[in-house]
Amino acid sequence: MEHSDNKVPQRDIDSQRDIMDMVAERSASLAAPPLAFVDTYGCQQNEADSEKIRGMLSKMGYGFTRDEAAADVIVINTCAVREHAEMRVLGNVGALTHTKKAKPSQIIALCGCMMQEPGMADKIKNSYRHVDIVFGPHVLWRFPEFLLQALTQKGRFFHTEPSDGVIAEGLPSMRDSGVKAWLPIMYGCNNFCSYCIVPYVRGRERSRAPEDVLREARELVDAGYKDITLLGQNVNSYGGGSGTDFADLMAMIDDIPGDFLIRFMTSHPKDATEKLFATMARSEKAARHLHLPFQSGSSRVLSAMNRRYTRERYLELIDMARGYMPDIVLTSDVIVGFPGETAEDLQETMSLVEKVRFDALFTFIYSKRPGTPAASMADVATRAEKQERFDRLLELQNAISEEKHAAYVGTLQRVLIDGSEGEYLTSRTSGGRLVRLHGEPSLIGTFQEAHITSSNTWALYGELE
Ligand code: SAH
Ligand code: SF4
Ligand code: F3S
Repeated sequence: MEHSDNKVPQRDIDSQRDIMDMVAERSASLAAPPLAFVDTYGCQQNEADSEKIRGMLSKMGYGFTRDEAAADVIVINTCAVREHAEMRVLGNVGALTHTKKAKPSQIIALCGCMMQEPGMADKIKNSYRHVDIVFGPHVLWRFPEFLLQALTQKGRFFHTEPSDGVIAEGLPSMRDSGVKAWLPIMYGCNNFCSYCIVPYVRGRERSRAPEDVLREARELVDAGYKDITLLGQNVNSYGGGSGTDFADLMAMIDDIPGDFLIRFMTSHPKDATEKLFATMARSEKAARHLHLPFQSGSSRVLSAMNRRYTRERYLELIDMARGYMPDIVLTSDVIVGFPGETAEDLQETMSLVEKVRFDALFTFIYSKRPGTPAASMADVATRAEKQERFDRLLELQNAISEEKHAAYVGTLQRVLIDGSEGEYLTSRTSGGRLVRLHGEPSLIGTFQEAHITSSNTWALYGELE
């Protein structure tokens, strides 16, 4: 696969820029700047997309609010990965009938992964008649055009045609923080894990050109960002086998002068390489953190999940990563209650967790996604059984997280102060562990040394040197 597969032609991006200028003129003619509310569900990829939506809205003269009643435009960026997330979105969209009634000129737009699901656009068309614009992730770059349509024409606008996906360069982005930045390096997924909806709604895997990624990374460093997370559903297959692979890309970003951390999400074990671990170990800026989802500790379940690695291979990879970086922080994702999962399979998952001793674990109960292969697999365990397994796994992990965190007490850690939360400043270690401390807000965005004084399951507490 070529890096520049499916790149949106520059003239098409330019015409969206022209539309942004037109809308900006319109906004400037109003008595006060119009306000937008952008709400985001789902993963970091969606966060990054929302930053682009905000970037475009800002260019179009919009200010921002978190008050739905005050917003002239509401954009809800949705996630389809589990049923629970979808139910929350639909509940919140339903509640917007009230704000729309009070303010009939309000424009309500839904976008993101859920909108790309077969049947979803029709459901919105028929049952959520107060929604004006619906568009999928593939046409996000055309948002200015959709907004102009809704501002100037009567009707409702649906743009969810199926697509393998595109790469749109040169869109403005408005980032939440001045310290941490998401940097998408690739889009889509080709792995088709049997439980997962992402490949159906995000299209085929495609990588941004290394020069485009590097240019954006340099801009971020120049703008003072200190923590850059390279994003993709499976960053280990960056480049699609042509030229620059993920480890090469990481080394190139590492060469950018400056004091900053490089993180990445997510790695797939089937494509994780020794070269990547060696590159991380050598790198000055690579954070000492690896998020490597294992999903199940049972090779039988892994095969039914179409993950294409075994329990043994996963454990080998962990040993290899620790061989290169003994202090590496390891986190992972796991699914409990996959169709056909037995008590023995769960035991294998528990024993893998005990063996690896992850610093933290994201645990999910399997959610049936219509249209995926797992949706038609026999699923005999009851919800209560799954919940019981989930609780047991969580209890095991919480005990491990608590012990791992306790081991930090008394140590000195280099942390990046990234924000505040009530009376505390929040910061992260290179391994991504949360450290709460007291200090001046002016320290946000700086690296500091912190003495760790106490801990619990979820966080560390410290004092600045
Ligand atoms: N591309 C990333 C994950 C994206 S989804 C990867 O492969 O690691 C994030 C997590 O959600 C997955 O790792 C998985 O643990 C969980 N997940 C995905 N589909 C799910 C489903 N149908 N039910 C429950 N959890 C799911
Ligand atoms: Fe989903 Fe698997 Fe792709 Fe991750 S790698 S997005 S879990 S299909
Ligand atoms: Fe959700 Fe789409 Fe991310 S389904 S997890 S927002 S890629």
